[in-house]
Amino acid sequence: MKKTILVTGGAGYIGSHTVYELVQQGYHVVVIDNFVYNQPWPFVGVQLERGSIADTALLERVFSSYDVECVMHFAAFIEVGQSVLDPQRFYENNVVNSLNLLNAMVRCNVTQFIFSSSCAVYGNPQYLPLNEEHVFEPQSPYGKNKLMVEYALQDYAHAYGIRFVSLRYFNAAGAAVDHNLGEWHEPETHIIPNVMRAALKDKELTVFGVDYETLDGSCIRDYVHVFDIAQAHVRAYTYLSAGGVSNVFNVGTGRGFSVLELIAAAERVVEKKIRVLHAPRRAGDVPILVADNAKITRELGWRACYSTLDTMCSSAFAWEKRRLNHGT
Ligand SMILES: NC(=O)c1ccc[n+]([C@@H]2O[C@H](COP(=O)([O-])OP(=O)(O)OC[C@H]3O[C@@H](n4cnc5c(N)ncnc54)[C@H](O)[C@@H]3O)[C@@H](O)[C@H]2O)c1
Repeated sequence: MKKTILVTGGAGYIGSHTVYELVQQGYHVVVIDNFVYNQPWPFVGVQLERGSIADTALLERVFSSYDVECVMHFAAFIEVGQSVLDPQRFYENNVVNSLNLLNAMVRCNVTQFIFSSSCAVYGNPQYLPLNEEHVFEPQSPYGKNKLMVEYALQDYAHAYGIRFVSLRYFNAAGAAVDHNLGEWHEPETHIIPNVMRAALKDKELTVFGVDYETLDGSCIRDYVHVFDIAQAHVRAYTYLSAGGVSNVFNVGTGRGFSVLELIAAAERVVEKKIRVLHAPRRAGDVPILVADNAKITRELGWRACYSTLDTMCSSAFAWEKRRLNHGT
């Protein structure tokens, strides 16, 4: 049997870009996804198991049918605001189902795990940029979910010999339009696709919070191209395959842009003015998140290669145009 990488959530935004990159590099991939957004499946010739990671029988069938060397775990609910309003769904899918996956791995002797964690584990920065040693004060159930799985991973590594890499992404952005890949969330809460939709549909864009203690009052985020995140996964896999010990890495560029700066960059790309509606702060949002990426650069040799604001905005714009033409 061929050595296989199991990708949960491989039909999602970051998962699909990672699947593309893994296949390009010659790896054999199997995806489990339950298509939360009814999104299209973008691949031909990639093995897909439609279903949920809550389904223990499905997981055990996959682990016994393929020689799974590593699991890349993207599957989760992602809307921070929703996690505040309806935490039960989030604890169930992001924590309980992640444990179900880990337990199936333990039973089936699968030992390598790469986890999609988030900068949301840190909460309000006590210093910037945020390194991996920063204290954890997640401000939302979503951030707590990610931290709980990270804690579980430490214990599973200690007790059951799992080796893991947790990648704490900052804000994923951009798309690989040439390969028919992009962001597909309903509702969409991420700022870049919403800016593009506002431009294309000539609608107002809501900006949540312009009274933060930042230079222009809007939140500052570290935007990292989804292809750079995919590359981080390939490097994490290479690291674990070479016997690397369990580890945690930030995935960000180290540079922050405010929401208003981002809108200005988007306006240059779409060549029109975007109408902005100022709304109160959104629950769970913190003012500034910028990564210290020294550790992943030093230990995995990762660098952000695609993450210019222009590349992220123009590819996101091209992707949203394509989605609109498909009548979505
Ligand atoms: N997008 C970001 O900026 C960002 C930042 C930090 C961390 N993350 C994390 O990265 C991962 C991927 O994020 P994304 O933006 O690609 O999200 P996404 O919603 O596009 O992808 C998640 C995929 O998982 C699937 N899924 C959800 N629950 C499932 C289940 N129980 N069983 C099987 N499939 C299931 C969905 O159908 C979807 O295809 C998530 O874990 C997210 O929390 C994302």
